[in-house]
Amino acid sequence: MSSYITRKTPGNTEWFRHDRFGMFIHWGLYAMPARHEWIKNLECMTDEHYQRYFERFDPDLYDARDWAKRAKAAGMKYAVFTAKHHEGFCMFDSQYTDYKCTNTPAGRDLVKEYVEAFRAEGLRVGFYYSLIDWHHPHFTVDTNHPRRKDPDALKLNEGRDMRIYAQYMRDQVKELLTNYGKIDILWFDFSYPNARSDNGLVGKGKEDWESEKLIALARELQPGIIIDNRADMEQDLWTPEQFQPTQWVRHAETGELCTWEACQTFSGSWGYHRDEQTWKSPEMLIRMLINTVSLGGNLLMNVGPTARGYLDDRACDALQVFADWMKYNSRSIYGCTMAEPDLLPSCPQDCRFTQSEDGKRLYLHLMAYPFAYLNLPGLADKVEYAQFLHDGSEIIFKRGSEQSFMHGSKLSDDTLILRLPHVKPRVIVPVVELFLK
Ligand code: GLC
Repeated sequence: MSSYITRKTPGNTEWFRHDRFGMFIHWGLYAMPARHEWIKNLECMTDEHYQRYFERFDPDLYDARDWAKRAKAAGMKYAVFTAKHHEGFCMFDSQYTDYKCTNTPAGRDLVKEYVEAFRAEGLRVGFYYSLIDWHHPHFTVDTNHPRRKDPDALKLNEGRDMRIYAQYMRDQVKELLTNYGKIDILWFDFSYPNARSDNGLVGKGKEDWESEKLIALARELQPGIIIDNRADMEQDLWTPEQFQPTQWVRHAETGELCTWEACQTFSGSWGYHRDEQTWKSPEMLIRMLINTVSLGGNLLMNVGPTARGYLDDRACDALQVFADWMKYNSRSIYGCTMAEPDLLPSCPQDCRFTQSEDGKRLYLHLMAYPFAYLNLPGLADKVEYAQFLHDGSEIIFKRGSEQSFMHGSKLSDDTLILRLPHVKPRVIVPVVELFLK
């Protein structure tokens, strides 16, 4: 058994740490301007201007089953879907607002189709719910609001009552956690209590969201649900975004190991962005997944579907990169975690270890393919068999004292020497599976 013990939290994180890999889906009206999901903020748009998207939102090619199949093929085990993003538009048929998909040409509950399709493929289902809301009349203008630069920004807040908005959130979270069956993850986003602007605007945090009540409600409705830590209250999940941790994420005060999930985009925006060009290379994608699991974390990889409701070729290609790799190598990901501390020093340059939770198998990921031999100091007495994971072909090995080819140089006797084929197998990152004694 792995000796790593993660901080105990109320949600059921056991399945989550086993499954390791999920799909984030950012979909809303912002798919239409197609130039970032923050577009209403970035271009300081008025509600009247943004209304042009609401009136024409018609995802006629939305096929949630297709998304679910692609997610499953990519090796993803769960998904998190934006039921509402910062724009405030609801992708579900809420009874507490008119600002919802059923009142657009879409004419149907998009969340419902997502839930049913992903569940049918055996994936676990989660919701992203934005705490920020740039449409709700009682959400006060703050440092991130599209109206923040108005000359009378502060005046706009007269008559706005965040208590009413907090109640609205509870009502909607209740709908989401009551009307769609079992929900495994609730992803609130996000808090900025310390933000201040020159014109006197402030940020928002747990007092504004009434996070305690909101979270208590979610836990009561869906015991075991996993909740992230972005409602300005620590919960189950630490969520590094747009950077990769280089160590297992630890609790700031206690130093305990946390359950963490890096969330990343295929390119630089979460919502569909037509012209954005920073698409990650296949190598970077696969390395990102491996790096994450090698540090005990999960990866939530985002897609931003188009306004018409399909995943564009770039997204499909990126998912296919995962599908091709995971088809043969998922054993080094599912049920795996950071290798035991005493094994870590044996990891050669340009490689990453993961280890099965039961401790029996060690996975050596060859991020750069070495020439012919790979030396793993300290492992000679611990390994009883080695094979490539993708094809199950034996990798022959020796111990340090048995080497006869390193004219003059000496390896310690407990060094495990793997002999690798000269030609890199056609796998982006080949994996050697080491069966431990
Ligand atoms: C940020 C952004 C948001 C995105 C989220 C994903 O907080 O505000 O657009 O949904 O990150 O983690």
